[in-house]
Amino acid sequence: MTEIRAVLEAKEISRTYPGENPVHALKPTSLRFQPGEFTAVIGRSGSGKSTLLRILGTLDKSDTGELIIDGRRVSGLPEGEIARFRRRRIGFVHQDYNLFPEYTAWENVILPIRLDGAAEDREKTAKLFEALGIAHCRDRFPHELSGGEQQRVSLARALITEPAVVLADEPTGNLDAENSGRVAELLRFACDEYRQTIVMVTHDAAMADYADRILRIRDGVVSE
Ligand SMILES: Nc1ncnc2c1ncn2[C@@H]1O[C@H](COP(=O)(O)OP(=O)(O)OP(=O)(O)O)[C@@H](O)[C@H]1O
Ligand SMILES: [Mg+2]
Repeated sequence: MTEIRAVLEAKEISRTYPGENPVHALKPTSLRFQPGEFTAVIGRSGSGKSTLLRILGTLDKSDTGELIIDGRRVSGLPEGEIARFRRRRIGFVHQDYNLFPEYTAWENVILPIRLDGAAEDREKTAKLFEALGIAHCRDRFPHELSGGEQQRVSLARALITEPAVVLADEPTGNLDAENSGRVAELLRFACDEYRQTIVMVTHDAAMADYADRILRIRDGVVSE
């Protein structure tokens, strides 16, 4: 039997935050994620969810092991090359949105495309704003948006490049049930139609219901 190739693979990744009382935020963990797979990560506050996601997204370095994306070993590449790789292959939704305050919602969303020197597809971008219920936010700056609107702009920015891997840190943490449902449907669609791989941290049992697979994390230990 041939095994489906993983789009994202972590081998024995771990992270300890140093200090007087070092925090073992992520114990050695190996995980594989396949194309079109939708994974939910659940666990208490402080259990290591964001740490795991940031390492999977190349935003933080693992202390040990290696990260393989599209069959390519990313750990150890020069930072500039990792950044380029991340921009093209990974969409990341930060827990705190991480929007640029001096850019409008629209400019924030098309930023990854501009940085890559590509032309924006206005129609596609408008559709994404529409699908996420933020069409009215296009020309506003982040400080003129509610938390839930910023959250959806951040999600639009992660999806606009149609990345192979979408890593979303509590993408519905600030949304009501209706908008959470919208986001869940959109992510499910991205998996099913475009074979995108999604890893989503959530506290919401209704969101986890949309996933194919649930990872539980407790004191830095991940289990299926
Ligand atoms: N930069 C840092 N320096 C030191 N300790 C950190 C740092 N970032 C996180 N930690 C600690 O590592 C542990 C895991 O943090 P992490 O942010 O991964 O948790 P989380 O599961 O995402 O929590 P939440 O649900 O509240 O977002 C926590 O004990 C946290 O205090
Ligand atoms: Mg977190």
